[in-house]
Amino acid sequence: MSDTSTYVSRRRFCAGACQVASGATLATFFAGCGGSSPTSPSGPVSTLATLSGRFSGSTVQVSVAGSALADVGGAALVESVAGVFLVSRTGTNAFTAIDAICTHESCTVTGTDGTDYVCPCHGSRYSRSGRVLAGPATASLRQFTATFAGDVLSIGI
Ligand code: FES
Repeated sequence: MSDTSTYVSRRRFCAGACQVASGATLATFFAGCGGSSPTSPSGPVSTLATLSGRFSGSTVQVSVAGSALADVGGAALVESVAGVFLVSRTGTNAFTAIDAICTHESCTVTGTDGTDYVCPCHGSRYSRSGRVLAGPATASLRQFTATFAGDVLSIGI
């Protein structure tokens, strides 16, 4: 092996080592940013169950029997041709229904930490009634009337 090839090998080694060091530094930097950023979820978040709603007139209807809304405390994402709604069962015959489109940059809010709704895009958190609990969103989600009869929830839009 010549001195030139040895020199090139060292040079390549140093360049590779610098790339690794730079990558590690950046990874540390971004990990630090992600952990404390107000734009990332801070707790365990799961994806809401999705239910299909039937749009008729000015109402979206969804059957709750056997679904994620069957029990008090349950929550689900209801999809329909008229829109997407975050629905939670707050009592035996009481539900909340709010717009599922995040007021920050219009992602569909699909997550929950078991208590609050969480936007998957930048981590905004909303209460079950749609109030902003953590940004970057600043505006609440629109709330709709929700009536319950015969095991069918009707969302008035
Ligand atoms: S779109 Fe940014 S937090 Fe929802």
